[in-house]
Amino acid sequence: MTAAENHDSTLFPAAGTGESSIGAALVIGAAGGLGAALVANLSGTAGGPQPCPAVLALSRSSLPAIDYGDEASLKMAADWVAAQCALQQVELRLLVVASGFLHGPQGQPERSFSQLDAGYLAHVFQVNTIGPALVMKHFLPLLPKQGRCVAAFLSAKVGSISDNALGGWYGYRASKAALNQLVKTASIEMTRRNRQSVCVALHPGTVDTALSQPFAKTGLKVRPAEEAAGDLLSVLNGVTPAETGNMLDYQGLMLPF
Ligand SMILES: NC(=O)c1ccc[n+]([C@@H]2O[C@H](COP(=O)([O-])OP(=O)(O)OC[C@H]3O[C@@H](n4cnc5c(N)ncnc54)[C@H](OP(=O)(O)O)[C@@H]3O)[C@@H](O)[C@H]2O)c1
Repeated sequence: MTAAENHDSTLFPAAGTGESSIGAALVIGAAGGLGAALVANLSGTAGGPQPCPAVLALSRSSLPAIDYGDEASLKMAADWVAAQCALQQVELRLLVVASGFLHGPQGQPERSFSQLDAGYLAHVFQVNTIGPALVMKHFLPLLPKQGRCVAAFLSAKVGSISDNALGGWYGYRASKAALNQLVKTASIEMTRRNRQSVCVALHPGTVDTALSQPFAKTGLKVRPAEEAAGDLLSVLNGVTPAETGNMLDYQGLMLPF
């Protein structure tokens, strides 16, 4: 049974019920391919089934802006989110962290250990691991202590140690494996705080964004970001506390660490 099939309460009202949303949603990394599609889907502008009136979006270009190299920016943004929720009289029920780094001016994913580079490794860990860890520190306390709430961190199947049959991509794989451990650890603390909470890592599949573009191979199934975002939100809508601490794919299937 997938997460989406196995649920007794949802984060959002079912389409066409006319019910109001029960909480606010926050997307961090909202200017990226998947982040923007998640915001559009949650806001209802993508024609998705889960319109959520209070959708908050943070990125390096938002106001306030977040910068993983500047923890004070995360603290300031968390204060802003708390103020927005108070103003709109909603509780933050969904947090999705959609930031991530694979390639850029700081370097390319490695094909061999001979290509390991301290600068690239530091950057990939800063964006994929340390940044999300600091997001946990400043934003998880905003989730309610009672009732259903979900924190989701975009990870990747290549971060699975047991699934690694191909090698390569040392830094990206290791940074996502470390993220998965952070998610597992935070899920335990969150459950102690709120037994109905869920904290999961998500694998979106291969999605057509700037991150995957140079690596898209002919024959590989690459999906549009809008479709992937809809799938991920369906999974989050149905995920249960029994599944907390795991990595789920876009169909709600549990992936091995
Ligand atoms: N696309 C895929 O096929 C695929 C597959 C598996 C997993 N994923 C994961 O899915 C997530 C979303 O990726 P995507 O495909 O949407 O990639 P993307 O379009 O490149 O978006 C990446 C996001 O990360 C943010 N980011 C990059 N560097 C940052 C930094 N130094 N500080 C703060 N934020 C930073 C970007 O923020 P700005 O907008 O401010 O630049 C952007 O929002 C990532 O975690 C990725 O690892 C993607």
